[in-house]
Amino acid sequence: TKTLKQLAKPTGVRVGTAVDMAALADDATYSKAVAAQFNTVTPENVMKWEVVEPERGKLDFTEADKLVAFAKAHKQKVRGHTLVWHSQVPAWLTEGVEDGSIDKKQLRKILKRHVQDEVGHFKGEIWAWDVVNEAFEDDGTGNLRDSLWLRELGPGYIADAFRWAHKADPKAILFYNDYNTEGINAKSNAVYKLVKELKSEGVPIEGYGVQGHLSTDYGLPEDMEANLHRFGKLGLKTAVTEADVRITLPASPAEVQAQDNGYSYMLQSCLLEKSCISFTVWGFTDKYSWIPGVFPGEGQANLYDENYQPKSAYEVVQRDL
Ligand code: XIL
Repeated sequence: TKTLKQLAKPTGVRVGTAVDMAALADDATYSKAVAAQFNTVTPENVMKWEVVEPERGKLDFTEADKLVAFAKAHKQKVRGHTLVWHSQVPAWLTEGVEDGSIDKKQLRKILKRHVQDEVGHFKGEIWAWDVVNEAFEDDGTGNLRDSLWLRELGPGYIADAFRWAHKADPKAILFYNDYNTEGINAKSNAVYKLVKELKSEGVPIEGYGVQGHLSTDYGLPEDMEANLHRFGKLGLKTAVTEADVRITLPASPAEVQAQDNGYSYMLQSCLLEKSCISFTVWGFTDKYSWIPGVFPGEGQANLYDENYQPKSAYEVVQRDL
């Protein structure tokens, strides 16, 4: 039977996974599966700011470089994740802003330097960058998120980040990435409006990523293909960047079926929309998943179980590719 990447090849859509670097180093079953099944990889954590600059001015790309080397060895493309986000920002930075030792002017310089440093370090090695992640509120207002970046720098930080990233690596495809924006809703409408404005101003935004974190407690995102399509019509590539479908445990047969439907729906939406260039899962085995840590009582969100047995969700992805 064919692997996911073999099945994906003729579709033109790459199939990817987030990679946990500790598992990649310590668990041979894990690393073999990453190599065999996927043709794009995303670092789950090691390209985030708190990891690459734990102390001010001390850059550490050790773990991220390992993933880039792994990807090269296995002919995989790398999705860089992520440059500007409200979360997993280094402590020295948030503390500096809080105690006033970093003012607005300095903060803008620090952000610019971070984007230049990181994109520059990986120049030519990254297929697509999630330049800005989760910049909108998730409360139905369509407002920009009340983050450090918005508060200190104003909404212009988004355009700035794309411009700085483009300068540092003109060939990387630059994405805006967010969650609960798979279908057409208030949040994706707000992202659409912003992206349209940015495009009209010549800002180098080239991709729209929908994370794809679903739960069997909620329905499927409405009109996902149409949503991807409208961004495609703006001239953007689109992608599913972090797919998983969590279940409140213990899982009933109906919930397992709903999970299968979730994966199938997101993958098909991508396969049917020509702007969609990749379908990435946020981890592929329940052995290493962020879900139980963040959503207590929920889990079993991935394609393989904890013992690397492919689940029905895997079979559905295999069937749909
Ligand atoms: C998560 C990782 O999976 C966890 O290991 C980490 O502790 C927190 O971040 N949206 C994103 C990802 O864009 O970066 C997040 O990853 C999951 C939600």
